[in-house]
Amino acid sequence: MGALIGDFIKPKSSSAWAPPLLLLFIFLAILSFQFSSKSVFPIGLISSGPGHDHDDPRKSCAGFFGHVALLPRRKVVMSITDFGGVGDGKTSNTETFRKAIRYMQGFGDKGGSQLNVPKGKWLTGSFNLTRQNGTIDGQGKMWWDLWWNRTLEHTRGHLVELMNSHNILISNLTFLNSPFWTIHPVYCSNVLIKDMTILAPLNAPNTDGIDPDSSTNVCIEDCYIESGDDLVAVKSGWDQYGITIARPSSNIIVRRVSGTTPTCSGVGIGSEMSGGISNVTIEDLHVWDSAAGVRIKSDKGRGGYIANISISNITMERVKIPIRFSRGSNDHPDEGWDPKALPIVKGIFISNVVSLNSTKAPVLQGIEGASFEGICFKNVTLLGLAPSKTWQCEFVSGFASEVFPMPCPQLQNNGSSSWCSYS
Ligand SMILES: *[C@@H]1O[C@H](CO)[C@@H](O)[C@H](O)[C@H]1NC(C)=O
Ligand SMILES: *[C@@H]1O[C@H](CO)[C@@H](O)[C@H](O)[C@H]1NC(C)=O
Ligand SMILES: *[C@@H]1O[C@H](CO)[C@@H](O)[C@H](O)[C@H]1NC(C)=O
Ligand SMILES: *[C@@H]1O[C@H](CO)[C@@H](O)[C@H](O)[C@H]1NC(C)=O
Ligand SMILES: *[C@@H]1O[C@H](CO)[C@@H](O)[C@H](O)[C@H]1NC(C)=O
Ligand SMILES: *[C@@H]1O[C@H](CO)[C@@H](O)[C@H](O)[C@H]1NC(C)=O
Ligand SMILES: *[C@@H]1O[C@H](CO)[C@@H](O)[C@H](O)[C@H]1NC(C)=O
Ligand SMILES: *[C@@H]1O[C@H](CO)[C@@H](O)[C@H](O)[C@H]1NC(C)=O
Ligand SMILES: *[C@@H]1O[C@H](CO)[C@@H](O)[C@H](O)[C@H]1NC(C)=O
Ligand SMILES: *[C@@H]1O[C@H](CO)[C@@H](O)[C@H](O)[C@H]1NC(C)=O
Repeated sequence: MGALIGDFIKPKSSSAWAPPLLLLFIFLAILSFQFSSKSVFPIGLISSGPGHDHDDPRKSCAGFFGHVALLPRRKVVMSITDFGGVGDGKTSNTETFRKAIRYMQGFGDKGGSQLNVPKGKWLTGSFNLTRQNGTIDGQGKMWWDLWWNRTLEHTRGHLVELMNSHNILISNLTFLNSPFWTIHPVYCSNVLIKDMTILAPLNAPNTDGIDPDSSTNVCIEDCYIESGDDLVAVKSGWDQYGITIARPSSNIIVRRVSGTTPTCSGVGIGSEMSGGISNVTIEDLHVWDSAAGVRIKSDKGRGGYIANISISNITMERVKIPIRFSRGSNDHPDEGWDPKALPIVKGIFISNVVSLNSTKAPVLQGIEGASFEGICFKNVTLLGLAPSKTWQCEFVSGFASEVFPMPCPQLQNNGSSSWCSYS
């Protein structure tokens, strides 16, 4: 709860694909939109299909998805039903939403406005929340202070949390100072997060940039992130709870993300990974002055798996440990965790990495008794490293080729395994 500027109402929606009458449909259960001259939400809705972006020769997820969602309380509060909306899952509300949003935007400089969408099934085509870009300030300082002085009894709010939502586009916004993680899609699918700037003080606790969690088909592209925790962290549930819920994260693309986080990593996978994480592509990442470039985190008690992870074209400057696999520090939700629930890590393909002025070589710590295999490195160059800094590997196995400095013996340096070519 509670993030931005007032009450944060979690968008909850259930997906369903609609009859072929309109281009795009979403069913929204509880959702509210806000407008003010200070915070503008240009969650522009793209109604085009694939091919939208074919002028751009770069790989891109644009045109992949199209859609919405957001939040809190303002001077004028109205309901979509005030505009004649019908949430029966059959009536098209497209014109109603467009009309309502046009009307509500008129209060942007008059104290702001909030449009509530009550529980129901709301069939609609695309509509724009606004056309301008804008900045949303989570004003997290109060929450960080409470956390620092240990007077906080509850967890902190995310700046934007989307649950059970499908076809979401968040783009061209600046998000500042989240109390906790900044964007948290959980139990979602088809989410495009593009052209975002996310900033928090570099010491602000747990201010992760973007955390896809138990979600599928998520693309995070062209984002600049500076924060006090991982720029992007892929997750899927914690210990016995995550194992029971068993909702994996899969088919995740993280592309052209850049930024810095002095105590954490560019992209993290885990440590909450108990529902399983697979098919993650991380590419064209640029990270500087950070603790790690890419970090895979797991622990005893997690169970789950991390599989088919492709990491390529990573550029780093002054990153302490460029690639790191680590065990948690006894970080469990409660006493009910199962010490026999070990994670399986299989198929991590890391290629085309250049790191300048790291302080350590990669540190790959698996877990005793757990399987960490098919860990492959190709064309990985770490420059400016003191000669005494060698790779540290424990309970991992795999292959390496064209790697400098020489990798640890657990990674057979013969480079011929076709097995390693996950793509
Ligand atoms: C949404 O905004 C875009 C960009 O300004 C525009 O092309 C599109 O027609 C708008 N869609 C609607 C439904 O107003
Ligand atoms: C977004 O807004 C900022 C500040 O208002 C402006 O400088 C920038 O040009 C805008 N960008 C786009 C793409 O409209
Ligand atoms: C903790 O921080 C909050 C927010 O700044 C402040 O209101 C509170 O007095 C602080 N408590 C202590 C014990 O320092
Ligand atoms: C972001 O804004 C730029 C400039 O207006 C525009 O070219 C781009 O398509 C927008 N991105 C998305 C995903 O809407
Ligand atoms: C991962 O990708 C592979 C190859 O495309 C596919 O066979 C597999 O089903 C995918 N896994 C998930 C969980 O989507
Ligand atoms: C590698 O990533 C950088 C961004 O960090 C990008 O500018 C460059 O084009 C990428 N190279 C290739 C070969 O894709
Ligand atoms: C990993 O990829 C392989 C080959 O594409 C596929 O058979 C397997 O199902 C994938 N594993 C997961 C957990 O998605
Ligand atoms: C090795 O990786 C670097 C950095 O991404 C890239 O510039 C270079 O072309 C790669 N070399 C080969 C042989 O792929
Ligand atoms: C790496 O360190 C060397 C020696 O201190 C310095 O000259 C160089 O500018 C550094 N490069 C980067 C990218 O930090
Ligand atoms: C590389 O190591 C693998 C696994 O031990 C082995 O199967 C393969 O034959 C080796 N290749 C070469 C060229 O030595």
